[in-house]
Formats: sequence, C-alpha cells, structure tokens
Amino acid sequence: MTDGVLHYNAVARTLHWTIGLLVIVNIVLGITHDALKDVFPAIQLHESIGATVLVLSLFRLAWRITHPAPPLPDGIPAWRRTAAKSLHWLFYALMIGMPLAGWIFTSAAKWPITIFWLFDLPKFAVTKTDPIVGFLHQAHVVAGWSWSGLLLIHIGAALQHQFVLRDHVLNRMWRAAPGG
Ligand code: HEM
Ligand code: HEM
Repeated sequence: MTDGVLHYNAVARTLHWTIGLLVIVNIVLGITHDALKDVFPAIQLHESIGATVLVLSLFRLAWRITHPAPPLPDGIPAWRRTAAKSLHWLFYALMIGMPLAGWIFTSAAKWPITIFWLFDLPKFAVTKTDPIVGFLHQAHVVAGWSWSGLLLIHIGAALQHQFVLRDHVLNRMWRAAPGG
C-alpha cells in the first residue's frame, strides 16, 4: 500500500535534512558568534559549517536538476504551488549564495579560513577597501536574517500540510513512500 503520494528519493531527503540542520545551526552561530567567542571559536566553526553547506548544496542542486521533484498531490491551489516552488528555488540560491558571499568577504580579513582545523580555504584576491567586500558583508547579514523569516514560513507551511490539511506533503520529504 502507498499513501497515494509520490515521495522525494532517499538522496534528496538525506540532503534536505542534513543541509537544513547545518543551516539552522549556522544562522544561530552567525548571530551569536561574538557573544560566544570567549567560550569556543564559534566563527571558525561557522565558516567550516558554511563551507560544508556550499559543497553539499552544489551536489544537491546537480541532483535536483537531474532528478526532478515528484509532482505535488492534486487539490493544492495554483498560487500555493507557485509560492512553494519560488521559495524552494530561493532557498537553493541562499544555500549557495550565502556561503559564497561569506567566503569572499572573509577573504579580505587577516586570519586564515580554516576548515574544521584541518586545512585552509584558498582566499579570493580582495581587500577590505574593495566595494564588493562591504557589499557582500552587508548582504550576508541581511540575507541571514531574511532567511530566518523565510524558514519560519517554510516550516509553518510544512506543519500546516501535516496537521491542518493532512495531505502527506511532509511525508514526501520525511520518509520513503510506504510500500512504494
Ligand atoms: C534551513 C532549513 C531548510 C532548508 C534550507 C530547506 C530547503 C528546502 C528546499 C530547497 C526544498 C525543495 C526541495 C526540492 O524540490 O528540490 C524543501 C522542501 C521541503 N521542506 Fe525544507 N528546508 C529546510 C527545513 C525544513 C523543515 C524544518 C521542514 C519541516 C518542518 C521542512 C519541510 C519540507 C518539506 C515537507 C518539503 C517538501 C515540499 C514538497 O513536497 O514539495 N524543511 N526544503
Ligand atoms: C549556510 C551558510 C551560512 C549562513 C546561513 C550564514 C549566516 C550568517 C549569519 C546569520 C550571520 C550573522 C549576521 C549578523 O547578525 O551579524 C553571519 C555572520 C558571519 N558569517 Fe556567515 N553564514 C554562512 C556561511 C559563511 C561562510 C562560508 C563564511 C566564511 C567563510 C561566513 C562568515 C561569516 C562571518 C565572518 C560573519 C561575521 C560577520 C560580522 O560579525 O560582521 N559565513 N553568517
């Protein structure tokens, strides 16, 4: 027996929850790094997790392009399909754009960008006075806060599907289709 709804495949589901968790941790670390800096090297961890998100997201985007999303169940209005699709593609842009922006503006700092205390990332050839550095720094901060708000909408929509509309949309991303 299936639940009559097509599900995302195991690779897409694993990447969704892994990247999702890392992004949430990184938003919290980004906002709190200054307060935490005497407790542990929060910004180095932030940069390492961000670089991991970049690599996983490039793979995820390639996977998504070669493995289209399963069609949504019938009965979901057109405006809601369009809103979900737009938000999902915006999330892909953020998953790649946020760490890239972080990497570029941090390249202008004196300290190395050390990944999990194992190796240093190569730096972009930029200095603190380049306009692009200031712009990407500001963009990183604004996009980080905006992403938190968009994430609440995304989570709210998933919970509404599960508990109000009861249409198995959360299951598509949560587990394999039963029996299918
Ligand atoms: C930072 C955290 C998260 C990010 C970046 C994220 C990103 C995404 C993206 C890009 C998609 C579209 C997948 C595709 O079609 O390729 C998606 C789908 C989905 N996400 Fe998230 N997500 C996050 C957290 C969550 C959380 C916490 C929940 C649940 C409470 C959730 C539930 C879902 C569901 C149910 C879908 C499938 C929607 C459908 O059936 O089309 N996500 N997510
Ligand atoms: C998914 C990836 C990432 C997310 C979601 C993210 C998010 C954030 C957020 C929310 C802030 C706090 C903004 C504020 O209120 O000041 C922040 C700050 C920061 N991020 Fe990221 N970031 C990511 C990746 C990176 C990467 C890859 C680097 C560098 C290699 C980086 C470097 C920094 C630095 C240096 C700050 C501190 C800026 C300051 O205090 O002025 N981030 N990040």
